[in-house]
Amino acid sequence: MSNTILVTGAAGYIGSIATEILLQEGYNVIALDDLSTGYKEVLFDLVPFYNTSCGNIDELKTIFSKNKIDVVLHFAGAALVPESVKNPFKYFNINFCQAQNLLDVMTLFNIKKFIFSSTCAIYGIPKPEEIPLRESVQAKPINPYGESKLLFEKALEWYKKSENLDYIALRYFNVAGASKNRGERHNPETHLIPLVIKAAKNKNYELKVYGKDYPTKDGTAIRDYIHVVDLVYAHILAIKALTNNKKHENIYNIGYGHGYSVLEIINSVEEVFKIKIPYKICEKRPGDPPVLIADSGKIKEDLNWKPKFNDITEMITSASKFIE
Ligand SMILES: NC(=O)c1ccc[n+]([C@@H]2O[C@H](COP(=O)([O-])OP(=O)(O)OC[C@H]3O[C@@H](n4cnc5c(N)ncnc54)[C@H](O)[C@@H]3O)[C@@H](O)[C@H]2O)c1
Repeated sequence: MSNTILVTGAAGYIGSIATEILLQEGYNVIALDDLSTGYKEVLFDLVPFYNTSCGNIDELKTIFSKNKIDVVLHFAGAALVPESVKNPFKYFNINFCQAQNLLDVMTLFNIKKFIFSSTCAIYGIPKPEEIPLRESVQAKPINPYGESKLLFEKALEWYKKSENLDYIALRYFNVAGASKNRGERHNPETHLIPLVIKAAKNKNYELKVYGKDYPTKDGTAIRDYIHVVDLVYAHILAIKALTNNKKHENIYNIGYGHGYSVLEIINSVEEVFKIKIPYKICEKRPGDPPVLIADSGKIKEDLNWKPKFNDITEMITSASKFIE
């Protein structure tokens, strides 16, 4: 019988594409989302949907008592770095306390398999010699978003020790691109590729480039962009590792191992749209590291992750359908 996966954050960017691909791969899915940043219309008619937050313990108990869940994919979370600096407690509440509710209710129902959306933001500002980043590099977050995710990773390790939780935390680098039917639509949008596409589509939108004096080839910051479909397939490999008791690490970095500067992304979008995109150079934002690139050797070796969409033009073209 197929495994049943509880997808939290199923109405969000990554959670909705994960739901789509899980269904294609023959899994049963139960969707949970409080619609705080997600969209009801990206949910699937055939998938049972619980419109609730991970803070609602009674609702969580109802979900686990009504459904036989094998694995939980926890995408739900708050993910805006500047907002986290202004309102840190919101981030500790959603990304730590509410996620812990979920673990406690899972423990109550003896569900032991958990996959967590972590982030490269836990690394803070790495030293140049630490790039590409291995999982063993010391995590030193510099904002409440990264800190809340790192704290939860630490909690997972204690649940493993005390409750026999079997988990995989994937530290995503910069997720981009879209599936055929679902794409990125954050509001407010803070991610570079959708913002550059927005500038390509709207003459009146002023694109800002933060910092032109980073120690990089063109002075702008470099990030490792990973296609959302490759990322979702890494989750499927993680589900298989957990359900087949395959030997695995608990933490994996996930990116392509090379990066694009802000100006290179602008050039790539210009090539796709065949137009020139004006931009304004602004002051560097505090806490924006010059370079973030993943070493994903471990997930490739342990889980046999083989990315197929390592192509910036594809990421831009697929994403652009969903951006106005
Ligand atoms: N997009 C990226 O580049 C990226 C990079 C690193 C990590 N992540 C992590 O991946 C996860 C998904 O990111 P995304 O880009 O899809 O974000 P998103 O905002 O599109 O999706 C998050 C979803 O979770 C829901 N949600 C938020 N808080 C909730 C709660 N307490 N209870 C129930 N539902 C809740 C929202 O309504 C939304 O539908 C997040 O945890 C984020 O931190 C994303």
